[in-house]
Amino acid sequence: MENFVFHNPTKLVFGKGTVEKIGEYLKKDGIRKVLMLYGGGSIKKNGVYEKVVRSLHDNGIEKVEVSGVRPNPVLSKVHEAIQVARENNVEAILAVGGGSVVDSAKAIAAGFYYDGDIWDAFIGKYNVKKALPLYVILTMSATGTEMNGNAVVTNEKTQEKFYFSSKHVYPVLSIVDPTTQYSLPANQVVYGAIDAISHVMEYYFDVAGSDLIDRIDEGIIKTLMETTEVILKEPENYEARANFCLATTLALNGLTGLGTTGGDWSSHELEHAISAFNPDIAHGAGLAIVFPAWMSYVKEQISEKLIKFGKNVFGMSGEFSPDDVINQLKSWYKKIGAPVTLKEVGINKEDIEKITQLANKHAPFGTVKELKMEDIRKIYEIAYE
Ligand code: NZQ
Ligand code: ZN
Repeated sequence: MENFVFHNPTKLVFGKGTVEKIGEYLKKDGIRKVLMLYGGGSIKKNGVYEKVVRSLHDNGIEKVEVSGVRPNPVLSKVHEAIQVARENNVEAILAVGGGSVVDSAKAIAAGFYYDGDIWDAFIGKYNVKKALPLYVILTMSATGTEMNGNAVVTNEKTQEKFYFSSKHVYPVLSIVDPTTQYSLPANQVVYGAIDAISHVMEYYFDVAGSDLIDRIDEGIIKTLMETTEVILKEPENYEARANFCLATTLALNGLTGLGTTGGDWSSHELEHAISAFNPDIAHGAGLAIVFPAWMSYVKEQISEKLIKFGKNVFGMSGEFSPDDVINQLKSWYKKIGAPVTLKEVGINKEDIEKITQLANKHAPFGTVKELKMEDIRKIYEIAYE
């Protein structure tokens, strides 16, 4: 187990009927005016928008709105919202949506105080020093962004999907009401599950760790697998939703990284290049394709861990190989309706070179095996069909 410091400042408000409390929390914190940020309109269909607006009104909190944040969010929307936030002298950002909305809100909160282009934070030219306070109402559990300091945004001009991390953009408070997620389409549930499972696996297969965190990891992954299957059959099963939501938050709020070297994160680097190349591919879909391919590529380095994973997550026994475990994971992804090859999501063989170049902008990466351009290309080739 490596040494660590664990500090997570986000207040997590979890459960039924919590969305309505947002106005009270903001008022208690002395916030009088917010920029309310949301996506393409799902919150207007499922009643979340109305609840938030009423709660803000009842507590005397003014708002200006920016909507239209798209999945795999883009930098131009961040720029637009920074402008609106400045013109209206808002005191906080209120993000209502999934990871794309929350990540954009983090960039807006940091960009508010920065004179240059906030993209500088994503390319390592600016170390965020200050941000507006961020409040979150999460409507899709997947990324863990509601309780971490990461933001992922695509610069649509350069096709770069990059991230920055800062202690200044942890949400002050995040509300997770599992009932707001009853309206999620089945494919988003599937992608959310795969994203959170992948977060845990990035740490699980790291070169360092501990038995305790491994057990927590295995428990989170088993919970996600079991609850996903229940939710796909019974979207309004509260206990399944609540367990699913909490598992996704714990997957990437720092807990599963304790005692590791920080995780491998190669599969995430490889995926971000895919959804940067084609923003219609969801992050979770890309991970379903690329994570098993990465496992195959580095299976010698992680063979013992794969066997442990097979036993403790899938309950495999007797004689079985690392390949059997990778196949079991792919089978489960197929079973819940996720794609497992690049071909299935419309990527052509010729595109592999372009995606390799995009991923290579961050190379070398990975702790299990340091991946360079040649390795990256080979993994995409494994993932092709
Ligand atoms: O835009 P609306 O209309 O709201 O629809 C969204 C969107 O189309 C819909 N949705 C959300 N909540 C809903 C709902 N539909 C019905 N009912 C609800 N309650 O779901 C669609 C997808 O939303 P999005 O926010 O894009 O999904 P997700 O939460 O998976 O976020 C993905 C983004 O986060 C990044 C990904 O790369 C991707 O850009 N990540 C962020 C991380 C972080 N900050 O720590 C880590 C992750 O590894 C990841 O990279
Ligand atoms: Zn992810």
